[in-house]
Amino acid sequence: MRPAIRPAVASDLPAVVALDETCFGPEAWSTVAWSDEFERTAEDRVVLVADEGSVVGYAVLLVSPVAEDVVEVLRIAVAPAERRTGIGGQLLTVALDRCAGRTVMLEVAAGNESALGLYAGFGFVEISRRRGYYAGGEDAVIMRWQENNER
Ligand SMILES: CC(C)(COP(=O)(O)OP(=O)(O)OC[C@H]1O[C@@H](n2cnc3c(N)ncnc32)[C@H](O)[C@@H]1OP(=O)(O)O)[C@@H](O)C(=O)NCCC(=O)NCCS
Repeated sequence: MRPAIRPAVASDLPAVVALDETCFGPEAWSTVAWSDEFERTAEDRVVLVADEGSVVGYAVLLVSPVAEDVVEVLRIAVAPAERRTGIGGQLLTVALDRCAGRTVMLEVAAGNESALGLYAGFGFVEISRRRGYYAGGEDAVIMRWQENNER
């Protein structure tokens, strides 16, 4: 079954917090931080979930109301058991469909092969690096997508 991709609602919060903990461990966002993200959907956040009866993935974007501002992908993750089945791609497709005419940026650890593969497949291109940005000294790769890029 393909999950439905839909905007998160308040009742998704516990499931998203739990899945974030599973996916990011010590780097997971706290319940308070996630509550803030959900509340900011009234302003500048887009929180999407992949719903298969339960939440199996999510994405968070910062979409400034100023049309000239870049959009930022802040988070995207899929439940480990569901990876490599297209859900990350489904989330990103819906996210980018909301970004007509916008430039989209994100930051990803240089060793995160799965995320780099996902983003490259959507036409994100590396524009710069922050050397030794992450704890442990890993580089951050800054990537950019524009609507006319190949998907
Ligand atoms: C990155 C992530 C969201 C990808 O989600 P996913 O549902 O597995 O991605 P998809 O199945 O849609 O894969 C789409 C494409 O991405 C690339 N990709 C995904 N996983 C990959 C891997 N492990 N190695 C190489 N390429 C990979 C492939 O090109 C893939 O297409 P293909 O399966 O036709 O070859 C998932 O691996 C994840 O949750 N990772 C942990 C959280 C994370 O690091 N998030 C990003 C930083 S915020």
